[in-house]
Amino acid sequence: MKFVFVTLFPEQIQAAAGHSMLKRGLDAGLIEMECVNPRDFSMDRHHSVDDAPFGGGVGMVLKPEPVVEAIRAAKAKAPGAPVIAMSPGGVTFRQELAETWAREETGLIFVCGHYEGFDERIYHWVDRKVSIGDFVLTGGELPALMIMDAVSRFVPGVLGKLASAEEDSFSSGLLEYPQYTRPVVFEGMEVPEVLRNGNHKLIALWRRKQALKATLLLRPDMLPAEPDKQDAKLLKEIREELEAD
Ligand SMILES: C[S@@+](CC[C@H](N)C(=O)[O-])C[C@H]1O[C@@H](n2cnc3c(N)ncnc32)[C@H](O)[C@@H]1O
Repeated sequence: MKFVFVTLFPEQIQAAAGHSMLKRGLDAGLIEMECVNPRDFSMDRHHSVDDAPFGGGVGMVLKPEPVVEAIRAAKAKAPGAPVIAMSPGGVTFRQELAETWAREETGLIFVCGHYEGFDERIYHWVDRKVSIGDFVLTGGELPALMIMDAVSRFVPGVLGKLASAEEDSFSSGLLEYPQYTRPVVFEGMEVPEVLRNGNHKLIALWRRKQALKATLLLRPDMLPAEPDKQDAKLLKEIREELEAD
């Protein structure tokens, strides 16, 4: 999977990708990363990439010529990859999209905005606008890096054998169950006995119940509309326990 960033701040991308799992994936050649800087395509002697908005208003707008030329260069580096503009007004990025892109695409091109955003005509060269949430950041680099991180977790080998992205919150359809490690007792709080007794059937049932409980309490919108028999029974138990508390 190749990630190409159209960005005015390649150092920010390189710094963030130089650690932990992303670095491991890059070093192992499981994922690739390149940056294309619109400033390198600016025609004027000041290498300017932004200009004042027509119609007035505060801030500066990214000019179409250098950004579109940078998108063209990015497309040459990752032929066939969708061009994704980072935009607070885009569709909200979700785990499902991370899985789909990791499965179906061999590359992704992220176009990172800055200042007041893009000249509208740039979107003609964009396949999709994506947001990471209902808030506004100073630039598209962090959103694009977040998406690269989320997609990379589904690229085989990036997480190694020790972890599985499929069992995480959202991928399983529920929030994750609580996890514990040693020590058994910490500041008076004990790891649930069921996790220590080696009965894998009971452990799986406990985890399912805890995942349902966390989802019911924090993200009830994610609960299955028609739970199967076991989930329905567990949910009934959870509701009764909560009422009794
Ligand atoms: C300051 S923002 C521009 C905001 C724009 N004036 C608006 O109101 O939608 C600069 C750039 O940061 C990126 N950005 C900011 N917030 C974002 C978000 N929630 N999701 C994705 N990209 C975002 C976009 O690339 C955007 O062009």
